[in-house]
Amino acid sequence: MPLIDVKNLSVHDPQQQKNIVTNITFSLHRQRCLAVIGESGSGKSTVAKALIDLVAPSLEVEGTIIFDGKTLTNQEAHQWRGKRIGFISQDVMNAFNPIETIGHQMVETFQQHLGLRGKEGKAHAMAGLTRVHLKNPYDLMKKYPYELSGGMLQRVMIGITMMLSPDMIIADEPTASLDAFNRREVIRQLHSLKEETGVTLIVITHDLGVVQEIADELMVMHQGVMLEHGSAKEVFTSPEHPQTKHLLETRLRLSAPTEALRQQKRVEAFLC
Ligand SMILES: Nc1ncnc2c1ncn2[C@@H]1O[C@H](COP(=O)(O)OP(=O)(O)OP(=O)(O)O)[C@@H](O)[C@H]1O
Ligand SMILES: [Mg+2]
Repeated sequence: MPLIDVKNLSVHDPQQQKNIVTNITFSLHRQRCLAVIGESGSGKSTVAKALIDLVAPSLEVEGTIIFDGKTLTNQEAHQWRGKRIGFISQDVMNAFNPIETIGHQMVETFQQHLGLRGKEGKAHAMAGLTRVHLKNPYDLMKKYPYELSGGMLQRVMIGITMMLSPDMIIADEPTASLDAFNRREVIRQLHSLKEETGVTLIVITHDLGVVQEIADELMVMHQGVMLEHGSAKEVFTSPEHPQTKHLLETRLRLSAPTEALRQQKRVEAFLC
């Protein structure tokens, strides 16, 4: 039985009288990783948000989502968000309360979802920050979100999500604001989390390295519809749709200079 089974998920914008997302259908088994790619504005984040009832109230959502054998109602989506379904948002700056410290927000989250109080909650928060290799977790907990970079906030959010041990994590561009070192680190952590805990992953990304390294399945979106869905290897190596081919070629071309630069640096380091 798949962990999540999505049938004909559509998101409609009544104001503009258009569909943002149309008839998305897929299922995902436990311990699998689905990567979702597609050009900017193709509806990737909207699908992710619709799965956990986080789309703007002005939008209408249709379709069926079955999670762990039960139809996911809005009430359950709210109840399970965080604890059973972790969400790492693309919009990390707005995911934190600007007037509370990082530590306070972490402890509050662990109290709400795991019932941890006082010292236990703080220890869990420290462990979460350490798990994503953030330095000086004790000092970090006293800081406010504006005192951290986007990349650091993203790692804090990943740390919180990991410490909640959800059944599934939806990560919306988890490596977008990270430098090369942290990017590798986050991919490695998501990968080992999947291997060690059996968590199911849905990762939205523009980063084909992420797809190659952790995805079992790949979904390609274009203008709100699903163009292709299949084994990541197959879609990657022999895309059926011309739009998928174009997207893969464009992204590979964009990542090529980085690889060339890396190789050049390796040669320079060797010559020194
Ligand atoms: N609340 C909203 N009301 C109206 N339109 C919206 C709303 N949210 C998103 N859209 C529109 O829906 C489309 C898809 O947006 P979405 O954020 O899902 O794309 P995306 O594939 O995640 O893009 P990106 O790669 O840039 O993050 C866009 O045209 C966007 O402007
Ligand atoms: Mg998005």
